[in-house]
This record gives sequence, structure tokens and C-alpha cells, in this order.
Amino acid sequence: MIRRIKGTNDIIEDSYVWEWVEDKLRSVSKKFGFSEIRTPIFEATELFKRGVGTDTDIVQKEMYTFEDKGGRSITLRPEGTAPVMRAFVEHSLDSRGLPQKLFYIGPMFRYEKPQAGRLRQFHQYGAELIGSSRPEADVEIIVLAVEALKALGLKEFKLKINSTGCEKCRPKYKEALKEYYKPLLPKLCDDCQIRYDRNILRLLDCKKDAQYAKSAPIILDYLCDECKEHFNRVKELLDTLGVDYEVDPTIVRGLDYYTRTVFEITSTSLGAQDALAGGGRYDHLIEELGGRTTPSVGFAMGMERVMIALEREKKLPDKPSPQVYVVAVEDEQRPRALSIAFELSKEFIVETDVMGRKMKSQFKNASKLGAHYVIIVGEEEMKSEIYTLKNMFDGSQVKLSLSEIKRRLKEEKCDSNLQWH
Ligand code: HAM
Repeated sequence: MIRRIKGTNDIIEDSYVWEWVEDKLRSVSKKFGFSEIRTPIFEATELFKRGVGTDTDIVQKEMYTFEDKGGRSITLRPEGTAPVMRAFVEHSLDSRGLPQKLFYIGPMFRYEKPQAGRLRQFHQYGAELIGSSRPEADVEIIVLAVEALKALGLKEFKLKINSTGCEKCRPKYKEALKEYYKPLLPKLCDDCQIRYDRNILRLLDCKKDAQYAKSAPIILDYLCDECKEHFNRVKELLDTLGVDYEVDPTIVRGLDYYTRTVFEITSTSLGAQDALAGGGRYDHLIEELGGRTTPSVGFAMGMERVMIALEREKKLPDKPSPQVYVVAVEDEQRPRALSIAFELSKEFIVETDVMGRKMKSQFKNASKLGAHYVIIVGEEEMKSEIYTLKNMFDGSQVKLSLSEIKRRLKEEKCDSNLQWH
């Protein structure tokens, strides 16, 4: 038997949860004025090298890169921001006016060690606010991320923010970090030994070496006046809006493009992989990709982790069930049952038997599927065109014409959880 690749999932039983989550995320994004962008799942490898940064874990060890038949180096996208910015530059989206507010939902690929909440093909919902350098933009993005989680009914999460400074103040901070970590180097994990030269900031968010990060110098003491002012304004605005947050100077994020504000939302109901969402400001990514300087800010949310959190917090939606199941008493009534089912399916969620089941077993199937109503089509019903409508929840029965049945189903809305609000 050929099995699925390690670190990937088949979404079968719970596809209705995905649909529900995606509906909610699309709806919140649109309310914030964001519109959807769908970029290809593979791109030129160079995009991620330049965009995400050659010294990041993603580019160093996690990319699915291959040569296509034309000899081009292709990479399955490990994240969505660089592709969106590539599209922004390629289609001169700035000519449509700024800011451009885009969101995306789709699969991403990283060759990581699979574990609960960490996959090789996972899905992200992300949003990018392109073209504003103002703290208001950071706050709009942060609030969107928080509101998206709230719209799903999640409560057990924490927002942590930090500033990573800019090209003016960050080098001094990096120097200070190098000084601090130098004597500790032999004690650091293998990854951090390499990161010390390549990407010193990442030493701060290494889980294995977290003990050393506690007493490391903090970036907030090194911010230049502009970065300090920007960060203070972000905090003030969050306070004004009543958004709860914690300043966590160890948040540096694993991608190179960040400047100033960075943030993460962690779930208190998840285990080791507790980051539900992460993002921040990236003021130079677009010029890195050949566009005009266009300060921007965004985030992405891990959808599989959101699903686990929904399960832990008991916030999963109910499985949708048919509103009505049309039962044929004898084989002679099957064509009528089928035509009633097709007629009703223009407006309702309908099931009927296509397996040649006897009446009793059609009823069994109707209750197994959780159908709210059953329409019984027998010999008498065929003649009179008055059908028995049985409420499977309370057992009551009425005789009605098809148009009366339609009216009844419409009035009752049938508790169908397909009618998501
Ligand atoms: P990221 O922190 O690499 O940021 O990923 C965002 C979220 O994707 C994480 O918080 C996590 O929930 C989820 N995630 C990441 N890797 C995996 C994985 N292997 N399995 C399951 N879930 C995962 C970015 O990707 C940036 N592009 C975010 C951004 C957008 N920054 C600015 N704009």
C-alpha cells in the first residue's frame, strides 16, 4: 500500500471543520477590508533565499527544493509573505493605491521534524497590510489576528509583542548579544552554535537554551528614538483598544525580514508547539525583491494548531447533518423519492437511498446520519401526493403536500449546522 508522506494529513472526517474555520476567517478578514490573494504553491527558490533570508532555519534546512524539467530551481512555498510581496511587485499593486490589504489561506511546506502541531505540509491563514509605516497599521494587523481567533470562539491565548529595532539600532544590540553569549558558547545546543555567527537573535527564542536568554541583554534597551517611539505608540494604541498583551523581549521570530514590531500569539491549551500565529513589520522586504520601499506588516496563523486548540477548548462546530431524508417504502416509489429529493435539494440538505436498502434500513441510515426529518413515500402517498413528514427528533408525524413540506422546512430551519452564522 502506498501511504501518505510523513508529516502530511488527509483531511476527511473533519473537512466540515476546515470549511467552517475558513468561512469564519474569510468573513473576519473581509470585515477588516482585506481581500483574498491566491499565489502559486511553488515559486523560484531565489524568492525565499532573498525574502526569508539565507541564514534562517527555513532556507538552511527546511525547504522542499527541486529542479524542474527545465532546469529551474523551484521551491514549495514555506510561507506566504514572500510570494505575496513578489505578486505585489510583479503586478505593480501599488498603482492601485496604498495600503493594499491582502489575506490568504493555503498549504505551506517545511521539512521539519513532524510532531503534534508540526507538519511538513501545513496550512496558514495570513494577512498582509502593505504600504504603511505607521503604528496604526501594526495595530490593525494585531487586532485582526486576535479577532480571527475570537471569531472561532477561542479564548485561551496570549498575545506577546516586542520590537526588533531597525537597521540603525539592531547592529549595536547584536554586538551586545554576541558579547553576552561568547563565554556561554560551549554550553549552547548545536543549532545555536551555528546561529551564533549566522543569526545571533535566534539564540533568544531557542527552547533548549531558554535559560540563558533570561539574563541576556534586551533589545528594548537598545532601540533608537524612532523605534522606541513607534513601539510606545503601538502599545498605547493596544491599550486604548483594550487589547491584552505582554511585552516579551525574547520574541525575535525566525525569518529575516522583520523590522520593529514583532508579535506572537500562543495558546495556553497547546503543548510544545503552542504558537498559533506570528507576524510583524517588514519594511524592506519589497525593496529586497526589487520593488520600491514599501513598509508593511502582517501575520500568519497555523490552521492545524487552531484546529487542535478548538478541540482542546471544546469549540468545534457540530457535524452538519441532513435536514431531510426521503424514504421510499417499496421499490416502486424509488423514482418518486428520488425526484422529491432532487427537488428539495435546491433549497435544503437532502439525502435519499441509492443502495437499494429496505425501508427499515433506510430509517436506520437516516438516524445514523442525524437527519432531522424523514419524508415517507409509500403507495398511498404516491397517489395522493400528500406525504408523511416525520420529525426524527421528537417522533411526531404530519401529512403534507410537497409545497407545505418546503414551507415547514424553511420555517424550522431544521437546526442545520450548515447554516453557519
Ligand atoms: P511563522 O511564525 O513561520 O511566520 O509561521 C506562522 C504560523 O504558522 C506559526 O505560528 C504556526 O502556527 C504555523 N506553523 C509554522 N510552521 C508550522 C509547521 N511546520 N506545522 C504546523 N504549523 C506551522 C510566517 O510564516 C510569516 N510568513 C508570518 C508573517 C506574515 N509575517 C509577516 N507576515
